[in-house]
Amino acid sequence: MFERSSRTRGVLQAVVDAPELIEARTPEPEMTTVIRARKLCKYYGAYPAVAEIDLDVEQGEVVVVIGASGSGKSTLLRCLNGLEAPTAGELDVLGITVTTDDWSRQQLRQRCGMVFQDFNLFPLLTVEKNVSIAQRLVKHRSASEAKERTLATLDRVGMLRHAAKMPSQLSGGEQQRVAIARALCTDPELLLLDEPTASVDPELTKGIMELVAEVAESDVTVVIVTHDMPFARAAADRLVFLHDGRTVESGPVDDVLLRPRHPLTQTFIERARLLHRW
Ligand SMILES: Nc1ncnc2c1ncn2[C@@H]1O[C@H](COP(=O)(O)OP(=O)(O)O)[C@@H](O)[C@H]1O
Ligand SMILES: [Mg+2]
Repeated sequence: MFERSSRTRGVLQAVVDAPELIEARTPEPEMTTVIRARKLCKYYGAYPAVAEIDLDVEQGEVVVVIGASGSGKSTLLRCLNGLEAPTAGELDVLGITVTTDDWSRQQLRQRCGMVFQDFNLFPLLTVEKNVSIAQRLVKHRSASEAKERTLATLDRVGMLRHAAKMPSQLSGGEQQRVAIARALCTDPELLLLDEPTASVDPELTKGIMELVAEVAESDVTVVIVTHDMPFARAAADRLVFLHDGRTVESGPVDDVLLRPRHPLTQTFIERARLLHRW
């Protein structure tokens, strides 16, 4: 997962070692910044759910956000896909400046896929319709095109045989997978996953991990909120630890998980280690 950054370092080193090679080398593809947040704040009344967060995410990166319940993880994701307007600070996502302007945030939501913590499936639509409807609305696919894509994606997440069911007839883990299928079907440039493995067993976690890896391979940028540290280690390039809406520590996943520097990160990771025995 660090291929991109080590490749970049390699190029820089080559330039230092042999500057005459600059002309001869095939240029590296430009890295595109997909998310740029500066002192991003989201207040609910006087309460700062997200407080002065700085974040840069490049295209194709997988960034995992960890932190205790109430630390602002879901609020941050909702800002990133334009569901919430920042109260203060700067936020650019996919080249769109996220402000209180509804139109720009709507444009952003069409290019982001989000899997919510509580899935947000439409209760009165079948699984198949739940996955098709966004494709019809966002991608303007015909009914038959949407259906074909829906069935293929449901198959990919192991939910094809449940296509005709209503969400209430599914377990939490099954609803989770339908929500993931729905997000993937719109070909998002940025995929935001809020605790995608919270309701699934270890076998399904592995499946979701593979899906995330596959998605990131195709240069989609992924931001995942999770409490599942083994999942974070397997899936992420980078880890961000939030506490009370603020970034306490961030860096390469193993640096933060195995060698946390800040006492708050150390306490959080120690507790998570005891709780989930990893
Ligand atoms: N719509 C809202 N109105 C008021 N307070 C909210 C709202 N959404 C979240 N909060 C508060 O903001 C804080 C961060 O919430 P959240 O982002 O959901 O945390 P996390 O996902 O890390 O558990 C919490 O204290 C929560 O109660
Ligand atoms: Mg949350």
